[in-house]
Amino acid sequence: MSKTNKVYLGTNTKMYKNISDTLAFLTQLHELTEDISRDLMELFVIPSFTALDQARKAVPQNSISIGAQNMHWQEKGQFTGEISPLMLKEVGVKIIEIGHSERRQLFKETDIELNHKVISALEHGFTALLCVGETEEQKENGYADKILRMQLKIGLDGVNPLRVNNIWVAYEPVWAIGINGKPASKEYAAQKHLVIKDTLIGIFGTKIGASIPVLYGGSVNNQNAPELIEMKNIDGLFIGRSAWEASNFNKIIRNVLPLFAKKTDEDI
Ligand code: PGA
Repeated sequence: MSKTNKVYLGTNTKMYKNISDTLAFLTQLHELTEDISRDLMELFVIPSFTALDQARKAVPQNSISIGAQNMHWQEKGQFTGEISPLMLKEVGVKIIEIGHSERRQLFKETDIELNHKVISALEHGFTALLCVGETEEQKENGYADKILRMQLKIGLDGVNPLRVNNIWVAYEPVWAIGINGKPASKEYAAQKHLVIKDTLIGIFGTKIGASIPVLYGGSVNNQNAPELIEMKNIDGLFIGRSAWEASNFNKIIRNVLPLFAKKTDEDI
């Protein structure tokens, strides 16, 4: 149905790496992957807020894009503990991750709030990385596709079509994420990516909708990364634990790059 011509590979370090861990990780990842043309891949890292300023300066922006794990939609106000788009602009991050399943499940963020964040991130010139995914219970009850459609329709409601090229979507089934997660099979992931692409096309029309990159996340590792990236409509991987050692992330990158290029050639 669609393809993007570069592969999207990134990690969110959650609440694990402090400033020095983040800087060491970024420097190593940059050095290990410097020889790879960034026309072939978009490499991104989403560290903790406290590390963002130094992270942004630690590696060239055209080598590794830096993102924030969350953002409030308002520019300023009585919102103790929140971080505004203007503050993140000042730091110079490129990506805002919106609606990671931990934000939805543990911090009860709703689709409507996430929509405010998407709109605000786009209006402030960021790339909005909207995460969607069904829970185990929703999957078992046969609602997964409905949930994905709803999360996308509400999450992207009112987006200015001119800003759509700054939207990325991550499909991260809740049951697949983290230490207790089981990775989705490549077939299951591909089927859900098709639902997502189809929904994006429904919202934005064929050309624009199909051009939005959709990344898979949830227990991606060295074994399943190659088979996932070979699937149609999987434009990238959003990796947690397996990417947190730069050397292992580099291995995954090098395994998937040729497979993604081959898939792109076949699509043309
Ligand atoms: P995981 O995390 O790869 O460790 O399952 C994925 C995520 O939370 O984005």
